[in-house]
Amino acid sequence: MAIEIRSATTGDAGAIQRIYAPFVLATAISFEDQPPSIDEIAGRIVSILKTHLWLVAVDGGEVCGYVYASAHRERAAYRYSADTTVYISPEAQRRGVGHALYAELLPRLKQRNIHMAFAGIALPNPGSVALHESVGFTPVGIYSEVGFKLGRWHDVGWWQRML
Ligand SMILES: CC(C)(COP(=O)(O)OP(=O)(O)OC[C@H]1O[C@@H](n2cnc3c(N)ncnc32)[C@H](O)[C@@H]1OP(=O)(O)O)[C@@H](O)C(=O)NCCC(=O)NCCS
Repeated sequence: MAIEIRSATTGDAGAIQRIYAPFVLATAISFEDQPPSIDEIAGRIVSILKTHLWLVAVDGGEVCGYVYASAHRERAAYRYSADTTVYISPEAQRRGVGHALYAELLPRLKQRNIHMAFAGIALPNPGSVALHESVGFTPVGIYSEVGFKLGRWHDVGWWQRML
């Protein structure tokens, strides 16, 4: 499998929207409840690339997954900490794409002096937990019932990876 990993552009917003929207509509993996439009995603790409990183995985010319890093929190002392988010299209899952994206993202974050990466995972999500632990994230703790979506409360587990 020849997966290309490259920086996202606004031209990827449509493919990213197609990957992300079904998870927003049908699951509590994302805590958004309305899928963002393609324009909104393009705006998010521009905004995140100003300060952090957004990578896409391309297979056979098609974007099949993405990972991005964004500010963990806004106050100045948090500036060396980032949150990471990863989504892979269902057809491309379990083929090493998430792992390949993180293998590219984490060293690039380190080059930018990011010290700690955090992943917040709505539980249960054994695939995401396993992916993050496979690239060196370790568990921090759980925010109990911090989100309400699809008629019930959801816990979020936090994992961290020192760079
Ligand atoms: C979670 C997700 C990002 C994993 O990405 P992926 O490309 O499928 O993961 P990879 O193929 O790179 O897997 C790397 C390792 O993670 C683990 N893993 C990944 N998916 C797994 C699953 N469903 N069950 C158990 N382990 C899993 C395995 O250890 C795997 O290595 P292996 O295949 O050699 O055993 C992907 O399933 C996904 O996009 N899910 C829906 C959205 C989501 O949950 N995003 C995360 C939000 S926190």
